[in-house]
Amino acid sequence: MGVDEESGLIVSVSRDHPGSGAGRVWDYRGRGVIVAPGFIDLHVHLRGLQLSYKEDEASGCKAAAAAGITLVVDMPNTRPQLRDPEALRAKLEALDSKCIVDHGAYAGIPRDPSLASRLASEPIAGFKVYPEDLASPGLAGALATRRLVVLHPELPEASKADLASATLEGRLAHRGCWWEGAAVLELGAHRPRGRVHVTHASCASTVAMARSWGYTVDVTPHHLFLDTTAPLDPCLGRVNPPLRSPGERLGLVKMLLEGRVDALASDHAPHEEREKSLPPTCPPGFPWLEAWPWLAYRLVASGALGLGEFHWLTSRGPALVLGLKRYGALQEGFRANLVAYDPNASWRFPGPRYSKAKLHPATMMELRGRPLGVWVGGAPVYLDGEIVEGRRPGVNPFRAPGAR
Ligand code: DOR
Ligand code: ZN
Repeated sequence: MGVDEESGLIVSVSRDHPGSGAGRVWDYRGRGVIVAPGFIDLHVHLRGLQLSYKEDEASGCKAAAAAGITLVVDMPNTRPQLRDPEALRAKLEALDSKCIVDHGAYAGIPRDPSLASRLASEPIAGFKVYPEDLASPGLAGALATRRLVVLHPELPEASKADLASATLEGRLAHRGCWWEGAAVLELGAHRPRGRVHVTHASCASTVAMARSWGYTVDVTPHHLFLDTTAPLDPCLGRVNPPLRSPGERLGLVKMLLEGRVDALASDHAPHEEREKSLPPTCPPGFPWLEAWPWLAYRLVASGALGLGEFHWLTSRGPALVLGLKRYGALQEGFRANLVAYDPNASWRFPGPRYSKAKLHPATMMELRGRPLGVWVGGAPVYLDGEIVEGRRPGVNPFRAPGAR
């Protein structure tokens, strides 16, 4: 494959020769290495701003790069929240100056409906709708812009009966699948005319309902691989939506294997170690970036999921959800975001190295496949187990005219 570091684009694709170009050559021929489009994670919390003690755009994007993730899209529940143009601009600038992979962000639903069109004129990926936004006067304004909306499928009531000190089963009893279905119906009642994406669907019924409304849908690695029988204390295992029962989890896996899911997304949600270990206030979320593609690759290694399906779910699928035409495939004219990996590697996740959040429920879990090199816009960001320091930041594709 030939890439042009100047434009950041793929200029030639060939199975057999490394490509013509004036620059450096990485030759993996004959070593059983797979070269694939870099992964796209359309749901991450890089925090930053006043929450930089949990994670920031530099640490989170290094964590992404180390796993082969070359585009991340950041969520607006930051401090301050990205519900007004000033906070949004500060976040987009922080991403542009600190994030070594390509990046974007969603705007929050503004409390003042008249701000929606101003937020939509910024280079955002779309709007994020949280449970409390379903009753906000700003929602109609955001929907009127016809930008992509990404729904957290729960109603605000789901968190009212929620006790941090409860067991994993206890949380599950309060936060059942019905909240997810109700949120999809609630958003549908607003008759959105732009595209809608339902994120972190944790129940098979939510996937089915999202599809029946014509919405796209993603699932997370934790809802696919962990359930209430996992040996996790209630703080470490705390996440929203909650881990489900083994039966519900298998129903979700079945949906994935049947091709009814558009993307995998991590909901990387880093918290400080001290916060994450203190009941009853411990916050929900898992800091997934460094591990999740290789946890998901277990489905390929076991023969359950085809290689093509895996790459679709982790690159082209999310690119299409985001409306990015030149991302997620090895084709001439596409952004040269690549991962080269050893498909036969088997290793145990040692815990997060680059993320600031060190407590992880998948620590010591078996991962399959391992990245050897990762390129963003044709330039290496991760090689042989190390981040390439001094890299210029990645780009925000939503800034490019015609990108969506
Ligand atoms: O577990 C979660 N953590 N779910 C969310 O919806 C938010 C996230 C966070 O920001 O920590
Ligand atoms: Zn999230």
